[in-house]
Amino acid sequence: SGGTGLRGCRIIVTAGPTVEPIDPVRFISNHSSGLQGYAIAGALAARGADVRLVSGPVFLPTPPSVQRIDVRTAEEMKAACLAQLPADAAICVAAVSDWRPETVSSRKMKKTAEAPPVLSLRENPDILATLSHVAKRPALVVGFAAETDDLQSHAEQKRRRKGCDWLLANDVSRHPFGGQKNQVLFLTENGTESWPEMTKPALAEQLAERVVAFFQKQD
Ligand code: C5P
Repeated sequence: SGGTGLRGCRIIVTAGPTVEPIDPVRFISNHSSGLQGYAIAGALAARGADVRLVSGPVFLPTPPSVQRIDVRTAEEMKAACLAQLPADAAICVAAVSDWRPETVSSRKMKKTAEAPPVLSLRENPDILATLSHVAKRPALVVGFAAETDDLQSHAEQKRRRKGCDWLLANDVSRHPFGGQKNQVLFLTENGTESWPEMTKPALAEQLAERVVAFFQKQD
């Protein structure tokens, strides 16, 4: 690992969960640890990339030489990513909340004798799909997909639907969120590779090597 293979490359990495407020003290979020995204940001920076890590709230140290941009909501994450363009690559590892409360109460919601409140939700923007179709599209856009069944065909469909170049798909029924290890299918327009089970840092190194190879072929 290490080296200068990505010197001069600006790479956006999204990581962690997003947090969607309900009122001043409550929110909707998920269990993303940020481990995989932070490992990828670190592996790219170790190869000389100018990494912009757009991160939801996590309890992890910022990897050396990585520029971290902290966000909370999906809307903030999307805006922060677009503000980093132009970029050579974007790697979307964040677990973005699919929905957010339609309205955010400016005061803490009170418990009453009446029926409990009903949350009305609206869809969040898809940051990976946005970056895949933006005018200043990065040359390489990469996504992740957590699936529970029919991994290969769901992942192929997701890669096409999102418009990204590469998709790393893992079976979360075998490797749940928050684990130390990962096993993925690596999908490109040229086909699918099955990568062996490895630690998240090892997966980050392997992906970073593929990114180096991609940009070597480009010039
Ligand atoms: O559709 P799904 O959530 O399974 O897609 C996962 C991939 O899409 C991940 O790369 C994730 O970071 C990205 N994503 C995103 N914005 C969303 C939802 C997912 O960037 N709103």
